[in-house]
Amino acid sequence: MQKIIEKIKTLKKQKNAIILAHCYQPVEVDFVADYVGDSLSLSQVASKTNADIIVFAGVYFMAQTAKLLSPNKKVLLPQIDAGCRMADMLSFRQLKEFKAQNSDIPLVCYVNSTAEVKSECDICCTSSNALEIVKSLNTDRVAFVPDTYLGKWVEKQLGNVEVITYPGFCPTHLQIRPVDIENARKKYPNALVLVHPECHMSVSDIADYVGSTTGIMNFVRKSDENSFIIATEQGVVDRLKRDYPEKEIIPIKENIVCPNMKMTSLIDILNVLENENNEIDVDKEIAKKAVKCLDAMLGVSK
Ligand code: 13P
Ligand code: SF4
Repeated sequence: MQKIIEKIKTLKKQKNAIILAHCYQPVEVDFVADYVGDSLSLSQVASKTNADIIVFAGVYFMAQTAKLLSPNKKVLLPQIDAGCRMADMLSFRQLKEFKAQNSDIPLVCYVNSTAEVKSECDICCTSSNALEIVKSLNTDRVAFVPDTYLGKWVEKQLGNVEVITYPGFCPTHLQIRPVDIENARKKYPNALVLVHPECHMSVSDIADYVGSTTGIMNFVRKSDENSFIIATEQGVVDRLKRDYPEKEIIPIKENIVCPNMKMTSLIDILNVLENENNEIDVDKEIAKKAVKCLDAMLGVSK
C-alpha cells in the first residue's frame, strides 16, 4: 500500500492535481486526500482550487458538481459506476412532472441530484446548509427534491415553512430504525445519539443531535461528553474512531454502508491519475443552468 501511496503523491505533484474525498470513502483514501469532508465543504473547495486536475473520491453527482463549479479543470472519478441511489430515484422527466405540480413555489434540490435536475431548480442545498437555504428564500412554501426525509426535517425545524417533498430517500440511511436507537440507548445509557438528516423522521425525532457528516464530526470534537452513538454511514464511524481514540464511538448497527461510496480503492485513484480517464463532462446548455442553482447556494453558504 505504501508504494501506491507514494506513486499517487508523486503524480499529484507532477500533474498539479488535488484529491477530494468524501467522509464515506474507505478510510485509507485519506492517506492521499488533500481535503476530506462533507458535500458542502468539498464543493466549496472545488469551486476555489487552482489545481489543473481534481480527482473526486466520491460518487458521480459529487464529481459532476465539481465539474460544474470548475468547468476548466479536468475532473476524474476513480470509479465511473459509483452513483448515488438517491439521485438515481429522480429522473429528468420525473423532475419536470414534480415541477409542473408545484410551479408556483421555489424549487430546492439537494446536491444529491443530477446536473439535469439542478438545471431546472432554483437553488441547491446540502445536508449542512438545507435549513439556511430554505430560510433564505423567505417564503412559507417550497418544493424539495429528491430527499423526502431531509425536506421534512427542514420543515419541522423551521416550523413556518411547508416543504413539499418528492418521495426519494437514501437506502443506506433508511436501514436505521427507531428500534435501533432504543436498543442502543438501553445498552449505552450515557451515550449521545447523533443522526444524519437523511434518516427517517422517526429516527431524527429521537436523536440528541441531527446534522451533516461534518456536523456530526464537529459535534464529537467539541463535546465534553465521551460516548457517542453514530447513526450514519460507516466512514464517519471509522474516522471518528481514528481521530478520537480516547472517546467511545459506537456505530448504531453493523453495515450502515453506502456500497457505491466504498467502490473506490487507492489503485483506482492511481489509475485515473496515471491515465486521466473517467473524465466528467457536462452538456454546455445543462451546465449553464445547473451552475446557477449551485451558485445560488454558494452565495448563501460562503
Ligand atoms: P453530507 O456530506 O452532506 O453529510 O451528505 C451525506 C451524503 O449522503 C452524501 O452523499
Ligand atoms: Fe447516495 Fe445515500 Fe450513498 Fe449518500 S449514502 S451517496 S445519499 S446512496
